[in-house]
Amino acid sequence: MFSKLAHPQSLAVLRRGVHASVTSATSVATKKTIQGCSPEYIYEREAKYGAHNYHPLPVALEKGKGVYVWDVEGKRYFDFLSAYSAVNQGHCHPKIVAALKSQSEKLTLTSRAFYNDVLGEYEEYITKMFKYNKVLPMNTGVEAGETACKLARKWAYTVKGIPKYNAKILFAVGNFWGRTLSAISSSTDPSSYDGFGPFMPGFEVIPYNDLPALERALQDPNVAAFMVEPIQGEAGVIVPDKGYLTGVRELCTKHNVLFIADEIQTGLARTGKMLAVDHENVRPDLILLGKALSGGVYPVSAVLCDDEIMLSIKPGEHGSTYGGNPLACRVAMASLEVIEEEELVKNAETMGNLLRNELMKTPSDVVTNVRGKGLLNAIVIRETKDYDAWKVCLRLRDNGLLAKPTHGDIIRLAPPLVIKEDEIRECIEIIHKTILSF
Ligand SMILES: Cc1ncc(COP(=O)(O)O)c(C=O)c1O
Repeated sequence: MFSKLAHPQSLAVLRRGVHASVTSATSVATKKTIQGCSPEYIYEREAKYGAHNYHPLPVALEKGKGVYVWDVEGKRYFDFLSAYSAVNQGHCHPKIVAALKSQSEKLTLTSRAFYNDVLGEYEEYITKMFKYNKVLPMNTGVEAGETACKLARKWAYTVKGIPKYNAKILFAVGNFWGRTLSAISSSTDPSSYDGFGPFMPGFEVIPYNDLPALERALQDPNVAAFMVEPIQGEAGVIVPDKGYLTGVRELCTKHNVLFIADEIQTGLARTGKMLAVDHENVRPDLILLGKALSGGVYPVSAVLCDDEIMLSIKPGEHGSTYGGNPLACRVAMASLEVIEEEELVKNAETMGNLLRNELMKTPSDVVTNVRGKGLLNAIVIRETKDYDAWKVCLRLRDNGLLAKPTHGDIIRLAPPLVIKEDEIRECIEIIHKTILSF
């Protein structure tokens, strides 16, 4: 076990930096297509006026519907990223957009200084759906993570009895939960944390998918919580061994430590279950949701847990101006209803099995590994002088499918969960054709 404060460079996971290859533009191209801006104009304008904190694939999108997106020149693509699993319900889902439109004409934001007539309805809906006593609504995923850490610390001092300000939270190597200073303080990825210290104290990192390491770390009576992704998304779709989540549950219970499941990417049907922890039928103490909680139309996140934990935070001790606003609540309810009504859990499982089975047939001299659950999948590309994951993604784009490399050699394949069999077969053909072209 280590903390970043003590051993800054140990267990670093090397990664091709997202900031590395952004080209700086000195002038903004003025060339336009008949319909609007040319792709080049769009790239250069962003490079000139925007921060260089991303390295997007060169494609300029202007429209989305279901599993498809269109670029500014009218070319259609399958979206195999789904905005990092935010668009599980498909782009611009009519029911979610309708909820957004109608609530936005009535009442959007009151702040939590007053009651509103939607928040309670949403709270009742989501807590009954996931069977927790209470929900704390926030906006982005990283805020849900921050909220969980605050809840864990408060619970540690007021319920567990850890001496004040001695509480520790454990994370796993390869974790990703966002970009705030707290989130990067637990990161083992130098491109996330390097140059941003000093870091948050009280965070320690243990290997992922390693129950003996967790057991050793839990010998420390000051451990309040273990926050972990049931499948690590940003690390490259790392699926732990069967039994890992069950073991985490048992060990956390034995040592009176909170099990926080970060389901922001894996939850809401993505892996072929409503929650990824459902694959092992375990019940974490806290569940973090975000991304697809709004189907990609609005930032909505949530922390779910029972009273013993949630009520350790008192009025005035935590909050957010936008958290729990009526617009977000309506959008979230519509998004959850779509997942149930359109049976996206079942579809993600069926389409995911089909996708992985077919991808296994790709030549192993290019694709060295295929892994995932449901529709959260990854292929690992062997890097040679002729090809790497970035080049494969560029050619996939040319062939009508958008995906993004992660960690240099991994391509995540995560289409919207509304994808149909004929569409996924067409995508498999595109992927095969692309791989065979190298
Ligand atoms: C597992 C996980 N947790 C948290 C986050 C952070 O979410 P957000 O970008 O909405 O802050 C992400 C984002 O990719 C994630 O994958």
